[in-house]
Parts: sequence; C-alpha cells; structure tokens
Amino acid sequence: MSQNGSAISVQGLKKSYKNVSVLTGVNFQVKAGTIFALLGSNGAGKTTIIKILTTLLKPDSGTAIVNGFDVVSKADNVRQSISLTGQFAAVDEILTGRENLIMIAKLRHLNQPRQIADELLKRLGLTAIAERRVSTYSGGMRRRLDITMSLVGKPPLIFLDEPTTGLDPEARLEVWKIVKELSDNGTTVFLTTQYLEEAEQLADRIAILHKGKIIANGTLAELKSLFPPAKVEYVEKQPTLEEIFLAIIG
Ligand SMILES: Nc1ncnc2c1ncn2[C@@H]1O[C@H](COP(=O)(O)OP(=O)(O)OP(=O)(O)O)[C@@H](O)[C@H]1O
Ligand SMILES: [Mg+2]
Repeated sequence: MSQNGSAISVQGLKKSYKNVSVLTGVNFQVKAGTIFALLGSNGAGKTTIIKILTTLLKPDSGTAIVNGFDVVSKADNVRQSISLTGQFAAVDEILTGRENLIMIAKLRHLNQPRQIADELLKRLGLTAIAERRVSTYSGGMRRRLDITMSLVGKPPLIFLDEPTTGLDPEARLEVWKIVKELSDNGTTVFLTTQYLEEAEQLADRIAILHKGKIIANGTLAELKSLFPPAKVEYVEKQPTLEEIFLAIIG
C-alpha cells in the first residue's frame, strides 16, 4: 500500500495496439480495502487496464502504482503482492481441483500446500468436487475454482476480470458472497463487469470507461446524483425474471 492509502493509483495511462488507441489518458485511484468496479462496453479497454496493472502488458505512457510499486520498474514486487483471475479460466483440466490448488500453493512457495488447499476447498464449498478432474466441472464450478486459486497465499489485492460472466444467477450470488467476504477481511478487490447490478451490489466505488477515458467515477449514490431527481410515480413492482428464477429453484 502506498503512503496515501491507495492500493492502486493510475495517472495519464495510455495504450494503443498498432494504430488503435484504446486508453487515451486514464486516471483513477482505488483505496485499500475497498471494492472497485470498472464498467465499460465490450472492447472499452477493461482487460487492457487489468493487464497493465498486473504487469502482463506495458503502458505506452502514464504511471500505474500498485501496492506502492510501479508496474513497469517494480513489476516483480507488484506480481508478488497481487493475484489475477483472468477473463478466461486458467485452471489445469487434467488435474483435480485439489491438485490445482496445491500446485499454486507450491508455485507461491508456501508451507503446507495441502493444508492450504483443503482449507480453501472447505471455505469455498468445493470439497465435494475436489477430487474430480477439472475437465468434468461445469463452467460455474470452474469459475469458482479459478477464484479460489487466486486466494492462495492471501494476496492483499485481487483482480477479477468479469468474474461472473456466463454464470447462472445462483452461482453469481455465490461469487458475490465470496467477494464480499474477501472485502470484509480487508482484501482490496478490483473487478470488471458487464452487469450493472453486480457493480451496484458489490462496489464501494464504480468507474465507467468509455472511449479511452474514465468518464464517471464515484459511489453509487454519487453516480445517481448525476441524474436529475426521478419523477415519483406509483407503479406495481413486477418481479424480475432473475427473482422468479431464484425463487423457483429455492
Ligand atoms: N493484443 C491485441 N492486439 C490488437 N488489439 C487488441 C489486443 N488486445 C485488445 N485489443 C483491442 O483493444 C480494445 C480493448 O480490448 P479489451 O480486451 O481491453 O476490452 P474489454 O473492455 O476488456 O472488452 P470485453 O468486455 O469484451 O472483455 C478492443 O478494441 C480490442 O480489439
Ligand atoms: Mg475484457
């Protein structure tokens, strides 16, 4: 964490691929211990920002400080202080869920990798499928294992790139619960999402990336106040299909 309590501090970040400008001057800060949601349409540059912040990609210009370390000059320190759950599951198909976790714990040079794996499996409710090969998992199980893998070693800052895309509403609620628990325990969470409701439910601050820049950044209440006050009308509230679905499956 840097001196001003920022887990992430980004200034003037620019990135182009060949002649296509994706980021044209991105600025934002994420306070340690909070959940920050980055919203944006397909192709807005959310994954590009995550790749820069996790040192997988170099910016063309601007600075990004993560946990007090510059992502370009102190990339190793950044990598040791974060974890990333990418947009596409990065689990090893041939291994079981438990073996995947043990492998990550070993890669992170942790003592007692088996014990760490078993604790996480229990905490994330994966014990029942822990001995199955990942190739037999459903998409939701895979996603849950993927997130569990990023918790190995208790990193203070985790990046989740669209953690609930493709999940059914029930699995989505489970992921939300995990994210909230992490945050309650002091972990900083940076997530991207396409689901506005997800940002509403989880995020302390929400930023909107559009045409290469952050065009709005604030708490939900602050973003709502950008709009003129709603006209009060009385209409009977219909349940959403999501609410019906969840009610039926209990
Ligand atoms: N390696 C690359 N080479 C060329 N263009 C790229 C590359 N990676 C991304 N882009 C382009 O950069 C833009 C931003 O992509 P990015 O993946 O960051 O968007 P995103 O906001 O994560 O989108 P999505 O919501 O679809 O995941 C897109 O126009 C994409 O085509
Ligand atoms: Mg993306």
